[in-house]
Amino acid sequence: MSQPQDDRLLERLRAGQPVLWTNPDYTPAEDPQAAADVAQAQADWQSFAPLLAALWPELGASGAIRSELIAVPGCREALAAAAPDLATLLVKGDHALPIAGSVKARGGVFEVLSTAVAQARAAGLLAEGGDIATLAGPDARAFFAKRRIAVGSTGNLGLSVGISARALGYAATVHMSHDAKAWKVARLRDLGVEVVQHRSDYSAAVATARDIAARDPLTHFVDDESSALLFNGYSAAAAELKDQLDAMGLVIGPERPLILYLPCGIGGAPGGIAYGARGVFGADVHPFFVEPVQAPSALVQMRHGPGRETSVYELGLSNRTEADGMAVATMSQLVAERMRKRLAGVFTVTDDDLFRWLAMADAEGLRLEPSAASGFGGPRMLQGTEAGRAFCFAHLAGRGAQAVHVVWTTGGAFLPEEIYQSHVATGRSLGPASGMQGDMT
Ligand SMILES: Cc1ncc(COP(=O)(O)O)c(C=O)c1O
Repeated sequence: MSQPQDDRLLERLRAGQPVLWTNPDYTPAEDPQAAADVAQAQADWQSFAPLLAALWPELGASGAIRSELIAVPGCREALAAAAPDLATLLVKGDHALPIAGSVKARGGVFEVLSTAVAQARAAGLLAEGGDIATLAGPDARAFFAKRRIAVGSTGNLGLSVGISARALGYAATVHMSHDAKAWKVARLRDLGVEVVQHRSDYSAAVATARDIAARDPLTHFVDDESSALLFNGYSAAAAELKDQLDAMGLVIGPERPLILYLPCGIGGAPGGIAYGARGVFGADVHPFFVEPVQAPSALVQMRHGPGRETSVYELGLSNRTEADGMAVATMSQLVAERMRKRLAGVFTVTDDDLFRWLAMADAEGLRLEPSAASGFGGPRMLQGTEAGRAFCFAHLAGRGAQAVHVVWTTGGAFLPEEIYQSHVATGRSLGPASGMQGDMT
């Protein structure tokens, strides 16, 4: 990006207008380390399957937490008005993931189960090669009941950690930021989770939660800002996506690149998925993060580069958004470091557009919360902006029309009906998805 372009980007960013930042350090390449890590994460998930099946019969005998890959012709048509090279648009439907109703099931459940297995092994409750499903039984439950799992969250991570911790019998505490939605708090309390509501933002809530947890040796703290376990749990989703694309006959390669649009808060979920995708698809995948215009924590951190934590408040932004899952002012440094060369770029979206896309997706039978609709902004950003066109020229030269665009929808299935219908009504009142906000060029 030239200096005048970068100045313009900064000006728009400060003004809360949508922007696309492309990463000058981006280096799409084969990634043996990421490939090995994804294979390990898949093996770990496989080893948890009997316990998952015992705890949640709705998963069936496979004990797999999977989402559908969904064709969305209506959305494609609506978005193609602003992005004509959009032959293939698919939705990876984590909004309907079992157990937690969001992408956070992939990370939160993985960390809670990994912790339970490690604690049970250390206490001699589970022998190497022993039947992991016994951890759903009464002896293990009595053991876990003396221990606690704690987490800081804007909402959905708290739900996934709280639900899985309680399923095993742990005591659970979820520290929530002021953004947390009342229905998420109520749902956790109904499960017997202790919910501590902070008046502060997400980063401050996490810091307080971490301090409190550190004082109790029987508490395991799920640290959303730096957890490798969460990251690994998310990463396996990329292998699931590859199987589904292959089954549809969409084999990703140099002639058919894959573009991912991943909603980002602290960065763990989109970072883990992007990392896994690099391992699975090598140089042929291009992952983009999406953030609200008032909370572009990954954009400001990745643009700034390593060496100093950077916050959206430094640009005079508010970190206020209806997309509660993405209301994060400072991104995870672990994720920033892992994304340095692996992330194609970051773009921002207005809250109004989130509601428009939510209503657009509703017409196709997808039940999304506002955060989860953000990826629909991707195709227009790539094809309708100077920075996007430069990216396509550099990385997709001649193959843009064959690209497979995947919008990762990250949450919503658990939204109470009344709230969901009011979101749909808001989206409809804002007009069609093709008439989105702001001059993009
Ligand atoms: C629905 C939804 N989408 C996206 C995200 C972003 O995930 P992360 O905070 O790991 O970047 C969250 C986080 O809670 C979420 O709830």
